Amino acid sequence: MKTTTHSLREMKVSGKKITALTAYDCPTARMLDESGVDIVLVGDSVGNVLLGYENTIPVTMDEMLHHTKAVSRAVKNAMIIADMPFMSYQLDPGSALYNASRFIKEAGAHGVKIEGDIYIDAIKKIIEAGIPVMGHLGLTPQLVNQLGGYRVQGRSANEAKAMIEGAKQLEKAGCFSIVLEMVPSLLAKKVAETLSIPVIGIGAGVYCDGQVLVTNDILGLSGKAVTRFVKKYADLYPEMKRAVSSFISEVRSGAFPGSEHSF
Ligand code: KIV
Repeated sequence: MKTTTHSLREMKVSGKKITALTAYDCPTARMLDESGVDIVLVGDSVGNVLLGYENTIPVTMDEMLHHTKAVSRAVKNAMIIADMPFMSYQLDPGSALYNASRFIKEAGAHGVKIEGDIYIDAIKKIIEAGIPVMGHLGLTPQLVNQLGGYRVQGRSANEAKAMIEGAKQLEKAGCFSIVLEMVPSLLAKKVAETLSIPVIGIGAGVYCDGQVLVTNDILGLSGKAVTRFVKKYADLYPEMKRAVSSFISEVRSGAFPGSEHSF
């Protein structure tokens, strides 16, 4: 069954948890879709996860469109959400709408994600044009320089209050869902209870309406330590290294190719 903004809202109402994972390429997107994930997020985390940038700030529209196109060629059922990269929605609502429309018209996404509660006019304009927008509060990685690092947000009473207000603003603007990143569980619970749209957590505890993680992290593809909120469901980096080492040694020894691989 295809995921839509409507089906996600129904999942919240019925208490069925929403699942979301990132993909930046066609085979990964196909695997996620075949596994039954509800949302495939083409995150701007592609910048640090795949492209070798230090953070998500340098990621461009062209890079996001390129990866979103690859993902949309594979996905049949999941909702495809593309991250709007840094400075693609901040300048003015008109250019934000133009950039959002490119993800839908050129790249095959079903909606876009925008960080923060500052650019409400841009968010409204995009939604008015018929493009679903997912909000993103808590730790917003595009603001890492301002936030002073990747740390839990909303710990103080004032910060918590501002986050709840921001979430209400995003709902009022018409967002179909929001991501809450690195937020104390009880604050995320409060936000999820306050909003009627689904709240999807990443490092925001069990009370959210769903969970999102970076696929490369849960598969252990980076060969690096992962942050506390990630659970590694597989450790594929050493497995891939083992396979590559076997190839190298078999080529060097002459064991590969065998007659079964030859014509
Ligand atoms: O870019 C990304 O992958 C994200 C998720 C981790 C929420 O924004």
